[in-house]
Amino acid sequence: MSVRDGCILVTGGAGYVGSHALVVLLEAGYSVVVLDNLSNSTFGSVTRVQEMTGQSIPTYNCDLCDKKGVEDIFSKHKISGVIHFASLKAVGMSVEIPLVYYRQNLVGTINLLDVMKEHGVYNFIFSSSATVYGDPKYLPYDEKHPTGSCTNPYGRTKYFIECILRDLCAAEKEWNIIILRYFNPAGAHPSGIIGEAPIGDPHNLMPNIAQVATGKRKEVLVLGGDYDTPDGTGVRDYLHVVDLASGHIEALKKLDEKCGLKTYNLGTGKPHSVLEMIKAFEKTCGKKIPYRIVERRAGDLPTFYADPSLAHKELNWKAERSLQHMCEDLWRWQSMNPNNYN
Ligand code: WQD
Repeated sequence: MSVRDGCILVTGGAGYVGSHALVVLLEAGYSVVVLDNLSNSTFGSVTRVQEMTGQSIPTYNCDLCDKKGVEDIFSKHKISGVIHFASLKAVGMSVEIPLVYYRQNLVGTINLLDVMKEHGVYNFIFSSSATVYGDPKYLPYDEKHPTGSCTNPYGRTKYFIECILRDLCAAEKEWNIIILRYFNPAGAHPSGIIGEAPIGDPHNLMPNIAQVATGKRKEVLVLGGDYDTPDGTGVRDYLHVVDLASGHIEALKKLDEKCGLKTYNLGTGKPHSVLEMIKAFEKTCGKKIPYRIVERRAGDLPTFYADPSLAHKELNWKAERSLQHMCEDLWRWQSMNPNNYN
């Protein structure tokens, strides 16, 4: 079945990356169906996407561990491909409640693949993470870099799912699967209508910076100032969430080439430190962002960033938006929506 023969099921479609993907999918003429268990999101994001695009999106509050619920969605809609964003993703929580993480991410994905197979749907895009590379043997990470030395259960769930997908493709030739390894998504849709809306305290750097800028939080805690990096703070590859979302459109096109299993990094290849991100955001919002350097966070790596050249070569995808775009769009979203979707 070609990807264009039916609609795309977007698991985790109410989440940060998922909701931005909905916009680019609809803009590219795809029909979508959303499944989300709302464990770290609300359907406010999907409502906004419908308002922005003038299109209605069938939306299901369903947990992937509820296989019957997933089957019902496949029975109701002609699904031709799946983009699987849904995942628990808080690194710290995954250390505290590993069984919950393994059940949700692994069992959820296996159920989804089972139901896909029952319905003859073999086009699959998986949201993986740069975290699967673990301790860098060299940088930038390319797709050939060894994987599996992850430092936490969250990372291992991504790695194990990658292994499952590889075994599945080797055993059953019908499958076309693209694994996308995300680096650090940041920013928001340039309209300011959708953005990252974490429930509770944000774990990631950029939403923390934005909440300090709006006065919601007092200061940014810089987690480590003594790394072996130019300014002592952690260095990452931040990419605009709309660029990241667009990568999925290119991946869908690739699936239609009957590509078997492919793996691509989605990053910019440009490393930035925590202090550089704070300075860039200060410039955008015109305010001082107070910060305090504290202890390192357990399991954090000093530096990692992508070699994104394979995605450029094979998917014709390249991150186009700059650090300034990320900061401006995040600031617009945060100032227009200080209470997220509420
Ligand atoms: C970035 C940098 C921190 C918070 C994690 C996952 C990854 C991906 C994104 C899923 C680091 C520093 C952070 C803060 C800080 N997946 N920092 N103060 O850890 O690179 O990646 O999230 O969602 O798989 O591992 O992202 O944004 O947490 O941290 O100084 O309050 O900012 O130490 O150097 P990370 P991050």
